[in-house]
Amino acid sequence: MKLYFATNNLHKVAEVQKILIGDFEILSLKDLGNTIEIPETGDTLEENSRLKVRYLYDTYGLDCFADDTGLEVEALSGAPGVHSARYAGTPGDDRKNVDMLLENLKNAADRNARFRTVITLITDGREKQFEGVVNGKIINERRGNSGFGYDPVFVPNGYVTTFAEMAEEEKNRISHRGISIRKFADFLLSSKK
Ligand code: IMP
Repeated sequence: MKLYFATNNLHKVAEVQKILIGDFEILSLKDLGNTIEIPETGDTLEENSRLKVRYLYDTYGLDCFADDTGLEVEALSGAPGVHSARYAGTPGDDRKNVDMLLENLKNAADRNARFRTVITLITDGREKQFEGVVNGKIINERRGNSGFGYDPVFVPNGYVTTFAEMAEEEKNRISHRGISIRKFADFLLSSKK
């Protein structure tokens, strides 16, 4: 079965394809000759994920899905949340985003945070959402060189290493994105039976 991912990020496409190999062929907007950056104008991860998948479905009528992720920090009332990619301004810049986060948390005793991913799937015209969450803490300075985004300052609960100090497979096993993709994959595989 072919499933279209409303993204132009080929790294994400490969990650999902790895999990669904054999049963599903994951294609992207690029495979449709479409290079659009779908505007993310929603106020929540749920809305943005839905907005992206609706664009693809309404334009092409194909079975498809989209994801949206944010870092939600307790002491910042859930910020940067849906604005995680461009927290320090446009265009998005990981280094500036992390600087801004550390600055805004300078005097905060509460360091609790979570990454949250929402995937929206449309098959046969029906929508379903899947959520993946990982809870952790924001530390005071960067540690580690792997990963991207806020990885160097995020330590998942039960660990002493940041996401940026973990091997990719270890991060994928416990991460928000890994959890949401496996929920989505389980649903697809069980509804195929
Ligand atoms: P997206 O919705 O997957 O594009 O993620 C939005 C933003 O959230 C990214 O630009 C990153 O700043 C941040 N982000 C998403 N996933 C991760 C992650 O696994 N580690 C660190 N930062 C992430």
